[in-house]
Amino acid sequence: MTADLTRHPRRPAETRPRHEGAGVGGIRAVLVGVGAMNAIVARLLTEKGVEIVGAVGRSPEKVGRDAGTVLGLTHPLGVEVVADADALYDSVRPDIAMVATSSFMVDQYDVLATCARHGVNAITIGEELLFPWHTYPERTGELAALAREHGVTLAGSGFQDFFLVNQVAGLLGAVNRFDRLVGRESFNVDDYGAEVARDQRIGTTPEDFAAWQASSTRPPSFALPILAAVASSAGLTITGTTVELRPDIATGPIESRSLETVVEPGLLIGFTTVDTVTTGEGPILQMELSGHIYRPGETDRCEWTVQGDPNVRVVNPDVDTLRMTCTQMVNRVPDVINADPGFVTPADLPPLHYRPRPLNEYILARA
Ligand SMILES: NC(=O)c1ccc[n+]([C@@H]2O[C@H](COP(=O)([O-])OP(=O)(O)OC[C@H]3O[C@@H](n4cnc5c(N)ncnc54)[C@H](OP(=O)(O)O)[C@@H]3O)[C@@H](O)[C@H]2O)c1
Repeated sequence: MTADLTRHPRRPAETRPRHEGAGVGGIRAVLVGVGAMNAIVARLLTEKGVEIVGAVGRSPEKVGRDAGTVLGLTHPLGVEVVADADALYDSVRPDIAMVATSSFMVDQYDVLATCARHGVNAITIGEELLFPWHTYPERTGELAALAREHGVTLAGSGFQDFFLVNQVAGLLGAVNRFDRLVGRESFNVDDYGAEVARDQRIGTTPEDFAAWQASSTRPPSFALPILAAVASSAGLTITGTTVELRPDIATGPIESRSLETVVEPGLLIGFTTVDTVTTGEGPILQMELSGHIYRPGETDRCEWTVQGDPNVRVVNPDVDTLRMTCTQMVNRVPDVINADPGFVTPADLPPLHYRPRPLNEYILARA
């Protein structure tokens, strides 16, 4: 499938009114990262009438091949995986980039800044990018300014969007007062690609884990941006944060599909974090988040307890974290294109909506 540039001729981004073409002739998306998540996203985008006009990859084994083939889809996508995002954005002028590359601001800053400079909206599922205003305020401010300058929106999303941010924000909006919020969430590292396995330290020794835990360059936990987003949406001011880390050790040999290896007993199959956030207004927010290779019988866990007036608890048993990362990312596409320029988070966007029609039909006309 190639873009029909004669149907909707594109002017350079800086001279093109924002959203032009999206509502009329379909949304044109680029996949950034050709791994486990964008394999699912590509299928969903196609089902929702979004044209995939390019793909950005990194490793020599992927670059130069058809993106559909690399992603293991049933059909080629008709676009080659390229390494040069600048050249791709200049030539295909996409409406939005679907970013599924890495988890943290240090790795994603350039990816998102490149999108902004080329006038391309972007939605990322990088865990820190969900709500980077707490962990990396300066760089987030820079990205927001760049996005405004070029008239585009950069947005964080992912599984967290409804289940860990907006569901919780709604729950807090339903009580009179709360003293403590406690979340518990788990995911199977082996459902995802190698990037997640590396983040969760699969196959490392407990000694390596202890050294990494103590190092000043250890990235923030996946849970801290979630709690920061919830605090922001509840109008609470963070005054302090702590995190405890617990390694999860293999007791017998266990296969790591994503790393194509067997983790021997005594080595890590993941770890659990417990983040606690204190606020100036009083409530304490806490989240235990476990990412490890599941043993037989384990399923995803997602539950929240609010202690307050009154107490309330929601449990989402067996929620499909893997697919619901991608469904939420795709359903957010119109919200991101419709949003005002800048860096937005799920705490800023409207509630997620069911999207039965082609996604371009949800794009709002702009003067
Ligand atoms: N928020 C959520 O709900 C959620 C859920 C799932 C995953 N995630 C995050 O999403 C990210 C992707 O997950 P995944 O399972 O799809 O990982 P994956 O299968 O390892 O895929 C990541 C892909 O991105 C590529 N890549 C990395 N940096 C790049 C760069 N700068 N430019 C171009 N390509 C780059 C990798 O290239 P190579 O092939 O060369 O390595 C790989 O193809 C991870 O960071 C993960 O933690 C978030």
